[in-house]
Amino acid sequence: MSVKTKIISALESAKGRDISGQELADRLGVSRAAVWKAINSLRKEGYPISAANNKGYRLDESSDLVSPEGIRGFLPEIYRSCPIFALKAVDSTNNYAKRLLLEGVPHGAVVIADTQTAGRGRHGKEFFSPPNTGLYLSLILRPQKALSDALPITLAAAVAVCRAVENLSGLTPQIKWVNDIFFDGKKICGILCEAVSDFESGMVEGLVAGIGINLTTTPEAFGGLSRVAGSLFPEQLSRNQLAAEITAELMDLEKDLDSPELIREYKHRSLLLGREIIFERDGRQHTGLAWDINEKGNLLVRLADGRILTLASGEVSIGSSQFSQTGE
Ligand code: BTN
Repeated sequence: MSVKTKIISALESAKGRDISGQELADRLGVSRAAVWKAINSLRKEGYPISAANNKGYRLDESSDLVSPEGIRGFLPEIYRSCPIFALKAVDSTNNYAKRLLLEGVPHGAVVIADTQTAGRGRHGKEFFSPPNTGLYLSLILRPQKALSDALPITLAAAVAVCRAVENLSGLTPQIKWVNDIFFDGKKICGILCEAVSDFESGMVEGLVAGIGINLTTTPEAFGGLSRVAGSLFPEQLSRNQLAAEITAELMDLEKDLDSPELIREYKHRSLLLGREIIFERDGRQHTGLAWDINEKGNLLVRLADGRILTLASGEVSIGSSQFSQTGE
């Protein structure tokens, strides 16, 4: 880790408190001058770091800047060398990631932005991505698999987000099949996985797992969506730390996408299983009981006459208007 990375992770961990220049220098095994140089460079990047007389350096409590150093400092050793691209604004982190993918960036590269001007959701929908309040991240993966074998990445991304949020905040969001994350009855996170594959070989050249989380977006900001879209509102949850945690969890899960453990955990975190759901089939609305999720991630629905129907994709809603996705 560079001195800058070590300093920003020390300051992030002590956000709102002073750390003396000497303590930083001792902890990192560098000179006071090196600390000073790194602090200046971090300030130039926009980090609000104050220096009180004789007290040392302090990262402002309200600071939640996303940066490569900030993320890297929270990543486990094995993933620390992955390239990280942190942008102030971008059309869509998934678009940016796909461009990088074609340029050859390696497995594990991360793209993160403070805001997206054209954030994309599934089924061609827009993903509202205002600045300062959300996490918009795309992880580039190169799984060396046939496309059909890489499909569980969608399930893995949902599990990774739930694990990361739980690890850092103790909150337990749930997965609404296929990969929306709900908390307190509202959608707080959407996931859009995209693949670039070789038509001839059927092998995946690369995957982009795009994750958007509403962290502190207020209901007013959602306008017409406020009935269905919510925020996680965790106290003091650093976006850098959350980005690192999601990246590490998803990188871990990606190593074993056909593990029965993945489906078991996905089911355990499911919001739908055991509930009445509404879904569309052949242009008509149907009601059934969310019965099970099979090893392919398909949703099995038990109809009133006892028949079991297998849904491979599509939108479903819970049979109570509180959870309805209509109008999203
Ligand atoms: C959905 O809810 O339909 C999926 C939303 C996915 C949003 C994320 S934000 C980061 C990445 N970049 C995008 O343009 N989309 C995904």
